[in-house]
Amino acid sequence: MISFNRMNSLASCLSRVIVLLTVTAVSLSVTSSKWGEEGVLYGKIGGNITLTCNSSNDSLVAEWRFNGAPDISWGFFTTLGHLELPHAHHSATGNYSCYSRTGDLLSSVLLRMGYPPGTPSVFCRASDYENFSCFWKSSVETLLPTRFTASYRSRNHIVGVCLQEPVRPNMCSVRKSEFWSSYQMNITEENPLGSSFRLLDVTVQSIVKPDPPENLLLEPVPFAPRRLRVSWDYPSTWTKEPHFQLKFRVQYRPAQHHLWTEVETANLSDIITDAFAGMEHVVQVSAKDFLDAGNWSDWSVEVRATPWTREIDSTTPTSEETPTDVHSPDAVDPFDVHSDPLEKVAILISLGIFAFVVLALVLIMGVLIWVKVRKKGMENGMKPDFLSVIHMKALPKVQIL
Ligand SMILES: *[C@@H]1O[C@H](CO)[C@@H](O)[C@H](O)[C@H]1NC(C)=O
Ligand SMILES: *[C@@H]1O[C@H](CO)[C@@H](O)[C@H](O)[C@H]1NC(C)=O
Ligand SMILES: *[C@@H]1O[C@H](CO)[C@@H](O)[C@H](O)[C@H]1NC(C)=O
Ligand SMILES: *[C@@H]1O[C@H](CO)[C@@H](O)[C@H](O)[C@H]1NC(C)=O
Ligand SMILES: *[C@@H]1O[C@H](CO)[C@@H](O)[C@H](O)[C@H]1NC(C)=O
Ligand SMILES: *[C@@H]1O[C@H](CO)[C@@H](O)[C@H](O)[C@H]1NC(C)=O
Ligand SMILES: *[C@@H]1O[C@H](CO)[C@@H](O)[C@H](O)[C@H]1NC(C)=O
Ligand SMILES: *[C@@H]1O[C@H](CO)[C@@H](O)[C@H](O)[C@H]1NC(C)=O
Repeated sequence: MISFNRMNSLASCLSRVIVLLTVTAVSLSVTSSKWGEEGVLYGKIGGNITLTCNSSNDSLVAEWRFNGAPDISWGFFTTLGHLELPHAHHSATGNYSCYSRTGDLLSSVLLRMGYPPGTPSVFCRASDYENFSCFWKSSVETLLPTRFTASYRSRNHIVGVCLQEPVRPNMCSVRKSEFWSSYQMNITEENPLGSSFRLLDVTVQSIVKPDPPENLLLEPVPFAPRRLRVSWDYPSTWTKEPHFQLKFRVQYRPAQHHLWTEVETANLSDIITDAFAGMEHVVQVSAKDFLDAGNWSDWSVEVRATPWTREIDSTTPTSEETPTDVHSPDAVDPFDVHSDPLEKVAILISLGIFAFVVLALVLIMGVLIWVKVRKKGMENGMKPDFLSVIHMKALPKVQIL
């Protein structure tokens, strides 16, 4: 039993070693072919490059050729049979081959000239509260194959990979990030001549910038020549959650004008009450985290509409998404508020109510005065009030005069 156990453990140990070796071999083969082509040498522009002929005996080397041609004015042949290229330019890129005295090709190498990477420039952005992405750009045009690795370290020292997708180069995404956590991003640019990394500290709430609101709809308000109703939806990338709401700002202007008017709202719609009657208006909306974290989104696409005018047949519903433009000259009156029949009716009704109230007040006052006068007259033993007598007598006189 014991020996069997031992053998078993030995076997498992061996299999582990074999697995380990296989992995090493795989990773080695990956690294050895990491910059693609076999037989390619990479050189730094401005550096001194020494090409050695891949032959068993250097003294066999009699000649070097560049892309098949024998004169290489930018290099010299050493006594060891090497080719020296001092302060090599980018134009030194090409196929170098070495030949023996008998004119046999000994070996060839492709030289590619370029620069080592500079520190990449990086910025990060969260278009929702759960994922964020970092975008980068090389600071140096290296002219060489380049690879980026992106990783992060969160505050509690958890190290993770910022995921890159082949279809979206120069960016990576951190999934399931914590909104209130901070991350140290490490974006490393690497090429055959070296590597360089940029560290960037980000907190998700400071880099949050939603996508613009979607499904904008701008409609005239029936019978209101100075109103427009605009509505929109949350950006689809911002999954609606009670803890992570957005606020919005609406900007609008007549199509011919250049100055925007801006209003802020927490709602998914707004009514513009000071539109210019009969004029086409342009409206855009942008969004920001409700608690003011991060930045405003870019402006949404523009929508255009003209407020309701009496030229529109009121029997047709105005729910059409694109109201017909009405360019009738008599409809263009920015201050023509009273052309609204509803408003006229409302004004008439309120005038009527006002007149009624005034009439009622006058009547009540009259009745009260009459009652008072009667009372006083009764108290004074049927003698009429002195003042009221004067008043009554004076009034006709004044009128006569
Ligand atoms: C290249 O070689 C020259 C001499 O041939 C030397 O003066 C120079 O410093 C070298 N440059 C580098 C980058 O090694
Ligand atoms: C150098 O030559 C050997 C055989 O002599 C060959 O196996 C090897 O691939 C060559 N290396 C290059 C870089 O050409
Ligand atoms: C290289 O070849 C030369 C003559 O062709 C010979 O004299 C020399 O011994 C050889 N060297 C080696 C290391 O084989
Ligand atoms: C380089 O030149 C040699 C000789 O002309 C040729 O055999 C070789 O295929 C060339 N290599 C490349 C990568 O073009
Ligand atoms: C974060 O990204 C994942 C994967 O793309 C997605 O399933 C998830 O809905 C995103 N989170 C939010 C809040 O949008
Ligand atoms: C950044 O990442 C690169 C490549 O993964 C690594 O070599 C470097 O040490 C990292 N830098 C820091 C400060 O973690
Ligand atoms: C949102 O709309 C409701 C009615 O739909 C309104 O009562 C409220 O004042 C609006 N809030 C804002 C901030 O505009
Ligand atoms: C976000 O706003 C800050 C200032 O509040 C600004 O410096 C930064 O450039 C903005 N970022 C973007 C992506 O607009």
